[in-house]
Amino acid sequence: MLHSPRPGSGWWRSGVIYQIYPRSFSDANGDGMGDLKGITQNLVKLSELGIDAVWLSPFYKSPQKDAGYDVADYRSVDPLFGNLTDFDELVAKAHELGIRVMIDLVPNHTSDQHEWFQKALAAGPGSKERSYYHFKSGRGENGELPPNNWQSMFGGPAWTRTPDGEWYVHLFDSSQPDLNWENPLVQREFEEILRFWLDRGVDGFRVDQPHAMGKAEGLPDHPYVDEAGAGFIEGRENPPMWFQDSVHEIFRSWRKILASYPGERAMCGEAYVLPLSFMALWVRPDEFHQTFNFRFLDAGWEKDRLVQAINESFEAFDAVGAPSTWVLNNHDVIRHASRFGGDYGRATASDGIGPENPQPDNKLGLRKAKAASLFMLGLPGASYLYQGEELGLPEHTTISPEHRQDPTFFRTAGKRVGRDGCRVPLPWVRGGLTNGFNQTDKAWLPQPAEYAELSRDVQEQSSESTLALYKSALRIRKELALGEGSFDWVSTTDLLSYRNGNVLVVHNFTGNEAPLPEGELLLRSGSGAFLAPDETVWVLSRT
Ligand code: BGC
Repeated sequence: MLHSPRPGSGWWRSGVIYQIYPRSFSDANGDGMGDLKGITQNLVKLSELGIDAVWLSPFYKSPQKDAGYDVADYRSVDPLFGNLTDFDELVAKAHELGIRVMIDLVPNHTSDQHEWFQKALAAGPGSKERSYYHFKSGRGENGELPPNNWQSMFGGPAWTRTPDGEWYVHLFDSSQPDLNWENPLVQREFEEILRFWLDRGVDGFRVDQPHAMGKAEGLPDHPYVDEAGAGFIEGRENPPMWFQDSVHEIFRSWRKILASYPGERAMCGEAYVLPLSFMALWVRPDEFHQTFNFRFLDAGWEKDRLVQAINESFEAFDAVGAPSTWVLNNHDVIRHASRFGGDYGRATASDGIGPENPQPDNKLGLRKAKAASLFMLGLPGASYLYQGEELGLPEHTTISPEHRQDPTFFRTAGKRVGRDGCRVPLPWVRGGLTNGFNQTDKAWLPQPAEYAELSRDVQEQSSESTLALYKSALRIRKELALGEGSFDWVSTTDLLSYRNGNVLVVHNFTGNEAPLPEGELLLRSGSGAFLAPDETVWVLSRT
C-alpha cells in the first residue's frame, strides 16, 4: 500500500480548508471591497458546503500595494476590512459553526510603510534599526549598481536604492522590503505577533513565503539567475535567497508556541520547496504541521505528472509522519476551470491570462476541473480549496489595463498580466453588476459576464451544479473518513484509478467513453451510461 492510515490526532491531517480572499468574498458595507463582516454573514454558507476550516488571506493594515501581502501593522485590521471587534466576531461565529480559522502570517517582508522600515530609513546606514532589514552599499564606482544580481519575483531588480545611497532587498515589490531573520529582534517581534493572534483564538497560520526568509551570508550573486524571476530553478543547489537551513530553527520555535496553546493549532507553510523529498524536511514533527503541495498543483491535468506527484507526495510526507496536502487553486494561479481549458502550464500559471493571450475553452476547463476536484477530494490528507472553485468560476481573462492591480502587471509593463483574474469578487445572488457581492454594484475588480449564471443562489437551485457536486463530495468524504484513509493505485493506465478504503476513484484520461466501474455509484462529475472522457467517478467497491 502506498499510504496507510496514520493513527494520531489533528484536524489538519485530514481537513478541508477553504481559502477566503477577504477583498473578494463578500462586501457588507458596499464600498466595493470585501470585508470581515461580509465573511461573518456568509460563514453559514461555508458550513453548508461542509468545509472544516477557513484560511483568511491578509486583512491587516496595509497600503495594499500587493493586495495586503504588504503588511504595515501585524496587529491591526485595515479599516478597509473592518476592525478587531469584527475579527473577534468572525472567529466566534466560525467556532460556533464548527469551522476553524487560520490566518495568513507574512514574515518574509513588511510594507515599506511599516514603522520598522520607516525607522530604518530615518536612522541611516549602520543603525540598529536598519538591521531589521537587508541594507547594503551598491556596486560600481559610486555604489550606483545593485549589490547583487537578484531579481524580484514580480519582475525587475530585487534592489531599490534609498536617498542616502544604500540599497535594500525586496524579493517582491519595492514596497515589500525583506526582513533580516538573522536578527533576534525580528524573531522576538514575530513570536509576539503569533501570541497576539493565538490569544484571540485563531486555530493556526498559513505562512507566506517561508522559504524566502533565510538569505545566504553576505547576499552573494545567484549563480543561475534567469529571466523567470528571482532565480527559482528546481534542482539547482542552494540558491542564496531560498531554502536556507537557518529557517528551521525559527519554525521550531513557532511550533513550540503553537503547542503551548490549548486545542490543535496548526501552521501550513507556503513552502515552494522542491523536490518533495526536500520539502519533507520542513514538515518534520517539530516544524510545520503541513505545507502546500505545489507539486500536485503544478502537475496540471496530465496523467503521468499526476501519478508522479501523488507517488512522491506519499513517499516524502509519510517518511516524516506529516499529512500530504492537496491543492488545485489559490489567489496566485489561474483558476483551474480555465487553466485546464487551455495550454497554461506551470510557467505561466501566476502570470495570468490577458485579452491578448489565447483564450481558454471554459466548457472543457470546467469539465476537467470538476473531475480534478473530485479526484483530489478522494485522496487521504488535507485538501485546500480556494473561494469560488465550488462554483466552478473561470478566470476573468479580459480585465482591461485600467482595472489592473497586481504589481506584476506594472513591474513588467503589462507583459505578465498577473493574478487579478483569479481574484474577482464572488457572485452570490444573480443580478446587478456584482451579483450579490454587495448591494451597491461597486467592485474593486469587475466580474466577467459569465459570473451571473454561476451565482451561488442559481447553483443552489440545481442538483446538477458544480456547487452540488462539491457539497456531495465533502459530505461523502466526511461520512467515509476519506481524509484519514489509505491510498493505493489500482491502475496507472489512462483509466487512472486508486482505492481509498472501500472507495474506488476512477478518472478517464483515455479520450473515449469507458464502461462505468462496478460497484455502488457514490458520485461522479458527469452523467450518462458511460464514463465520459475527463470524467471522475467514486464507487463503493469491496473487491
Ligand atoms: C502570496 C502572494 C504574494 C507573495 C508575496 C505569496 O506567495 O501568496 O499573493 O504576492 O507571497 O507576499
